[in-house]
Amino acid sequence: MDTILVKDRYFKPFITADEIARRVEELGARISADLQGRNPLFLAILNGSFVFAADLVRQVTVPFSISFMRVSSYEGMASTGTLREVLGLTEDIEGCTVVIIEDIIDSGLTMRSLVDSLKALRPADLRICTLLTKPGNLQTQLDIDYCAFEIPNDFIVGYGLDYDGFGRGLPEIYVVE
Ligand code: IMP
Ligand code: MG
Repeated sequence: MDTILVKDRYFKPFITADEIARRVEELGARISADLQGRNPLFLAILNGSFVFAADLVRQVTVPFSISFMRVSSYEGMASTGTLREVLGLTEDIEGCTVVIIEDIIDSGLTMRSLVDSLKALRPADLRICTLLTKPGNLQTQLDIDYCAFEIPNDFIVGYGLDYDGFGRGLPEIYVVE
């Protein structure tokens, strides 16, 4: 793995595909053990979590369903802090066990608004599963149930995460130079 150019910035290797696969397998096993008999609904947050969600659910060994929601608060490399888009949840989640699948929690503001709007729909249990968190940037209190990696405050791409729309298909995670 070498330094790569994504759009107009150089990125260097950060987390290998093997490390990601190992952590995703562990999370899948934990979720399966925790949610046995609960028929969880996974809510994968588009666009960034599509790769993680696809790998994660294939490590889940209990019955579940999955649906997708879209939110967006980022422009370039900085969070705008407010949700610009929320695209439709069609399921009735009242009384259900819901697990939000997110790519990364940075300031946490996206997740905060999402959790608040979902809680209003009265799920029995609402959990957060994220591939990455940047604890140094967190601006709100969040109970994160499942997290694969805690990372420093640097901008990353790959494995579903983008830099202005580019880099999502990279099998590894890269960090900006
Ligand atoms: P937050 O509201 O600041 O927590 O931002 C969360 C969203 O910003 C995530 O769902 C990502 O889509 C995006 N994001 C945050 N950090 C990064 C990063 O380092 N690379 C790519 N996208 C990021
Ligand atoms: Mg996202």
